[in-house]
Amino acid sequence: MGDQLALIRALPKAELHLHIEGTLEPELMFELARRNGVKLAFADVDELRRAYDFKDLQSFLDLYYAGADVLRTRADFDALASAYLARMAAENVRHVEIFFDPQTHTARGIALADVVEGLVDALSRAERDHGITWRLIPCILRHLDEADALGTLARLEPWLHRFTALGLDSSERGHPPSKFARVFARARSLGLKTVAHAGEEGPPAYITEAIDQLQVARIDHGVRCLEDPAVTRRLRDLGMPLTVCPLSNVRLRVFPTMARHNLGALLEAGLVVTVNSDDPAYFGGYLSENYQATAAALDLSDATIVALAANGFRASFLDPAAKQRHLGDIAAVARRLGVAIG
Ligand code: ADE
Ligand code: ZN
Repeated sequence: MGDQLALIRALPKAELHLHIEGTLEPELMFELARRNGVKLAFADVDELRRAYDFKDLQSFLDLYYAGADVLRTRADFDALASAYLARMAAENVRHVEIFFDPQTHTARGIALADVVEGLVDALSRAERDHGITWRLIPCILRHLDEADALGTLARLEPWLHRFTALGLDSSERGHPPSKFARVFARARSLGLKTVAHAGEEGPPAYITEAIDQLQVARIDHGVRCLEDPAVTRRLRDLGMPLTVCPLSNVRLRVFPTMARHNLGALLEAGLVVTVNSDDPAYFGGYLSENYQATAAALDLSDATIVALAANGFRASFLDPAAKQRHLGDIAAVARRLGVAIG
């Protein structure tokens, strides 16, 4: 075990499924609430942390959207992302693809300029100071309607050069990807790639819809694919990456325990699995802790840990030369630590 911790720490890693609003630690939430004169429903950090006992996705989202209310200024978004990126630098995370939820902020009257430029301030500094490369992915809130999504996409257009893809998140059940087929067609016509949360709480049919109707480059979560062998085969044949978030899945009760997580079965099915943290401030661990908890509970081999880290770069939106550089660095770490890889 001790050796696996050293391996996880030493490996260059990529994070592909991370909601920046989900990195808001209770201490920063209270600090920003004080700074901005926002009244929180919790007396202190301890009481807030005690509320992190979720029964499903919706019970988490209710708290997560309430917490985001403390984010008001460009400096707040910079502080939020800076705290996350400092942790990533310390964990040897070399590349991040970050989600944010524009509608969560515009609905409160926050200017998109402050959201985007605040995040870019922090990302540019992390790139300069730590060499962390990044992509930004705004996500459409699927519990809202198509008109709101289309309006949001139009309002994002001035910052199109900052974005790599459009994503789809929030309450999955009852909000299938097909609801946003026209929004994602418009995004593709603007030159964006697409990704979507599918098969987290929703059925495997939502994964099929995300592929066929949104033409996604990756599926976020996707763990319920194994309930339908035809969907699993399709994902495998397409080489479609899944951005799996193990600690999130246990905290939101997609699986009862980490030992019951299907990440090992997904790998055995020949799928391109990546490990990610989703909303680490709420789910008890950042990227390395997701690797550690999964490796320990599922008894993953060192070679499997190396393969998961490599998948993170392969499934990223980095250019081929950058991917090759990172894969070479991973192979060098594996060699140095005596891990035989295929
Ligand atoms: N928004 C933030 N985290 C999410 C998740 N795990 N699923 C859907 N929407 C989200
Ligand atoms: Zn997510």
